[in-house]
Amino acid sequence: MKLIIAYIQPHKLNDVKAELAKAEVAKMSVTNSLGCGEQKGYHESYRGVEFEVNLLKKIRIEVAVNQNYAAKTIDAIIKGAKTGEIGDGKIFVIDLAECVRIRTGEKGNDAIG
Ligand SMILES: Nc1ncnc2c1ncn2[C@@H]1O[C@H](COP(=O)(O)OP(=O)(O)OP(=O)(O)O)[C@@H](O)[C@H]1O
Ligand SMILES: [Mg+2]
Repeated sequence: MKLIIAYIQPHKLNDVKAELAKAEVAKMSVTNSLGCGEQKGYHESYRGVEFEVNLLKKIRIEVAVNQNYAAKTIDAIIKGAKTGEIGDGKIFVIDLAECVRIRTGEKGNDAIG
C-alpha cells in the first residue's frame, strides 16, 4: 500500500478531483495547507540574520491506495494540477504499513479500497 500526499494549487483542486474520478480513485482527504517550495518571499529574521520563507496557500491531498493504483493516482494528480508554472506542487509517496476500517476491523488491502 502507498500513501500519496500531494500539495497543489488551490484553484486546481476541482481539476485534480475530476482526474482522480476518471482514474476511479474516489477516496481522499483534503485539507488547507500553508507551504513553501523553492521560491521565497516572506521575510523573517533570526538573531539578526535575515532569511526568507514563503508560506503560500496550498491544498494537501492524501490518497491511500493499493499498489496497483499508485501510478494512476499519481498520473491523475499531475494531469489535474499541472500548468507548467512554478508552484504547481509536489507529490510525496510513502510506503503505507497498515490501514484499518474501524467499522469492520478489516485491515490492509481489504480496508483501503
Ligand atoms: N521539500 C518539501 N517538503 C515539504 N513540502 C514541500 C516541499 N517542497 C514543496 N513542498 C510543498 O509543496 C508546495 C508546492 O511546492 P512547489 O510546487 O512550489 O515546489 P518547488 O520545488 O518550488 O517547485 P517549482 O519550482 O515548480 O515551484 C509547497 O508550497 C509546499 O507546501
Ligand atoms: Mg515553488
